[in-house]
Amino acid sequence: MIGIAVVGYGYWGPNLVRNIMDLPDARLVYVCDLAVDKLSGVKARYPGVEVTTDFDEILRDPRVQAVAIATPVSSHFKLALKAMMAGKHVFVEKPMAASVEEARRMVDEANRRGLVLAVDHTFVHTGAVRKMRDIVQSDFGDMYYYDSVRVNLGLFQRDVSVVWDLAVHDLAIMDYVLAEKPVAVSATGIGHISGQPENIAYLTLFFESKLIAHVHVNWLAPVKIRRTLVGGSARMIVYDDLEPSEKIKVYDKGITLNDGPVNAADEAYQMMVGYRIGDMHAPQLDMREALATELREFVQSIQDHTQPTVDGMAGVRVVSILEAATQSITQRGRIIELEQSRLIA
Ligand SMILES: NC(=O)c1ccc[n+]([C@@H]2O[C@H](COP(=O)([O-])OP(=O)(O)OC[C@H]3O[C@@H](n4cnc5c(N)ncnc54)[C@H](O)[C@@H]3O)[C@@H](O)[C@H]2O)c1
Repeated sequence: MIGIAVVGYGYWGPNLVRNIMDLPDARLVYVCDLAVDKLSGVKARYPGVEVTTDFDEILRDPRVQAVAIATPVSSHFKLALKAMMAGKHVFVEKPMAASVEEARRMVDEANRRGLVLAVDHTFVHTGAVRKMRDIVQSDFGDMYYYDSVRVNLGLFQRDVSVVWDLAVHDLAIMDYVLAEKPVAVSATGIGHISGQPENIAYLTLFFESKLIAHVHVNWLAPVKIRRTLVGGSARMIVYDDLEPSEKIKVYDKGITLNDGPVNAADEAYQMMVGYRIGDMHAPQLDMREALATELREFVQSIQDHTQPTVDGMAGVRVVSILEAATQSITQRGRIIELEQSRLIA
């Protein structure tokens, strides 16, 4: 039985708590939050769980082997490092840290101490994204594009821009689904509220091959859209996360190219584009809650001394792109090369 403490009981923390309560091999020992009013809600709902505003109390307690961190991004590094220095395994919310430097130091600390460091890239553990990876990496042909729209009204975050809050999901999905890592990023964005970071942004990712990715994120949209198109030479996918059941639709559509002489005499050649319109199917998906799957895997990784699917290096790769995109935004979309050494696991 692995003893776990959840730190941060705001919007997302309650989801961690609910899922940890259901894990067969774990026991939720504490919930910690700086806000006392948040903790009274925990006591009422889970009387057997201890509450505290003192993070150090958790670290001193030998019943706690792991800490799950769901506090604002700016606090992840300090809390995670302190937890690991006290010998605790860490499950940390996305994005894992506020800079590559912090993220790397977290990975180093976990490696040095032989601790599990898992990052909550939630979508990676959904049936839809797992199915998408299966299809993309088996019968997709050449990868052409990943094109995503992730917009809604709010929730404005205090300490991060919309890129670090929403685009992070697409970067995590791409890191898991695509066989290739991006080599450069260009981003533009604007904040409409004075003193606040960007609330709308457009990211373009470049790859060594002819694959291109675009991500559009916005906290000021009148409707919620979670729609991704993934195109390859053999198949195309529409992934709509708001669809209740048929979240993934796989299209057998594409183009066929035929070389044909326009005029055999002058040896000029014209490319003939034909269109292939085949069937669409919506595969069966595992509809279990992603957080349940990944928290179970986190506990298993601690017990078996194995790496989780989304380990610290996956977190570093995503933060590298977030950092480069932020730099690009300040320079109106200048292309920023991504250091390959940071992106290779
Ligand atoms: N995986 C997902 O899909 C998903 C969804 C939403 C949020 N998140 C992530 O979860 C994290 C928290 O986001 P949120 O929306 O719940 O924020 P929030 O502001 O609603 O909640 C954060 C909570 O942490 C508490 N807190 C702050 N500093 C603390 C500290 N030092 N010790 C203890 N408690 C502290 C605050 O009092 C607050 O209750 C962020 O990293 C965010 O990106 C992930």
